[in-house]
Amino acid sequence: MTIYRLERQEDAGAIDALVAQGFGPGRFAKTAYRLREGVKHLPELAFVAEREGELVATVRYWPIDVGGAPALMLGPLAVRNELRGQGIGIGLMERSLNEARTLGHRAVLLVGDEPYYGRVGFTAVKPNGRITMPGPVDLNRLLGLALVEGALDQMAGAIRRARLDEPIAASSAPLAPLAMPTKQ
Ligand SMILES: CC(C)(COP(=O)(O)OP(=O)(O)OC[C@H]1O[C@@H](n2cnc3c(N)ncnc32)[C@H](O)[C@@H]1OP(=O)(O)O)[C@@H](O)C(=O)NCCC(=O)NCCS
Repeated sequence: MTIYRLERQEDAGAIDALVAQGFGPGRFAKTAYRLREGVKHLPELAFVAEREGELVATVRYWPIDVGGAPALMLGPLAVRNELRGQGIGIGLMERSLNEARTLGHRAVLLVGDEPYYGRVGFTAVKPNGRITMPGPVDLNRLLGLALVEGALDQMAGAIRRARLDEPIAASSAPLAPLAMPTKQ
């Protein structure tokens, strides 16, 4: 049986291992990773899957800003190698996306394969062309899901970190600077 639950502090090591297994060393160079650098993921949306007491999958979300509008960036999502293809990835996303909806979040973006993420409702945001991402990214893989009807249609602008929780290396700062504070 698969149990979906929130991540705990003591899960950190197992989560790092799952992500390293899923993405390899190249993960640090990804544009999506830059948006996470210096930012803490949202603990209330960090879900894991457990099977027989063992942690087998992880998903995290990060606060982003799209032209002044708050949104979430999903990732990384990783399922233990030998348990792939059993619905755990989709189950983990469904659980966490439901929670995001309940908590009042309006939209989620990610960089990934549409044939897979389309199973939980993500579509390419490219056709509207108004949401952009800093750094090298294949815009065909920039996907979005509105948790509130029409939320994505209203979004336009560059994806940025919504906030900075820790200092970051100067070399990575220009890729995804902090959002400018919006006028009240
Ligand atoms: C991608 C990943 C999270 C999927 O997890 P999973 O638990 O195996 O996924 P599910 O069991 O929920 O869904 C499996 C289905 O999705 C399909 N699928 C998996 N990855 C896919 C992809 N990249 N593109 C299209 N379809 C994909 C499988 O073929 C399978 O199809 P089926 O149901 O018709 O047999 C997992 O393979 C993984 O951890 N990969 C390494 C890390 C990674 O690539 N993460 C996503 C980054 S974009």
